[in-house]
Amino acid sequence: MELDGKKLSKEIKEKIKVEVSSIKEKYGKTPGLAIVLVGENPASKIYVNSKIKGCSELGFESFAHFLPEDTKEEELLNVIEELNKDENVNGILVQLPLPKHIDEKKVIDKISLEKDVDGFKPENFGLLMLNDKKSIKPCTPAGIIEILKSYSIELEGKDVVILGRSNIVGKPMAGLMINEGATVTICNSKTKNLVEKTKKADIIVVAIGKAKFLTADMVKDDVVVIDVGINRTENGLFGDVDFEDVSKKASYITPVPGGVGPMTVAMLFHNTLRAFKNINNID
Ligand code: GUN
Repeated sequence: MELDGKKLSKEIKEKIKVEVSSIKEKYGKTPGLAIVLVGENPASKIYVNSKIKGCSELGFESFAHFLPEDTKEEELLNVIEELNKDENVNGILVQLPLPKHIDEKKVIDKISLEKDVDGFKPENFGLLMLNDKKSIKPCTPAGIIEILKSYSIELEGKDVVILGRSNIVGKPMAGLMINEGATVTICNSKTKNLVEKTKKADIIVVAIGKAKFLTADMVKDDVVVIDVGINRTENGLFGDVDFEDVSKKASYITPVPGGVGPMTVAMLFHNTLRAFKNINNID
């Protein structure tokens, strides 16, 4: 069965839209999200534009900053400093990856903690690992947990294998799964006997950026498969999973597109609304 991220994300966004509208009425304030893109990465441009569009659909104010590829690190840090000070901005998203001459860590460090709607700062990562309610969770793994819960897929006691150890997906995904009571294995490109591990998994999250990497012979019957990949190839758009074959064995599987991607965007708005409320001491 396909896990419909598009449908669920619409439901989540609809609820957020209603809440934003009632906040405007009650407090006369509009939650604001700043979105910063440096350079010309075509995939990043698509993501950023869909986030900007989402802002206007849901009633958020958006502050878009498109900076040239050769922007100096110092200039980007100054932009963030201004956004940190701006009272109309409740969340700051700097689209990754950044050009190579800019230190990603320095940029994330610069974003003020209460505006870290990506949940990328060390403090937020720590709170997530500690299962603290105050943590702002990275959008993609948080969206994956939401979609699994919405289909009542049990996580407690399950063997979860995560392919990919990135700071954006793999590592926070592991933390959220641990908090749900799952037994977690995080694999990477150097992992030995990978198939041995994937074949035992009840749930597999694939986030390694290789088109159709996970094949049917690597999974057991009735596995749950979450595909985070978005690979644009000459032959079209593919996830990290060979959907056609794996879907025959899986009990649940996310399609690409229409699975994890829309959930990531929905969670960004969820986090921005949360940041707005935290900053304004609302509920
Ligand atoms: N690049 C890929 N995914 C993300 C994300 O969730 N947030 C940001 N800022 N950059 C990304």
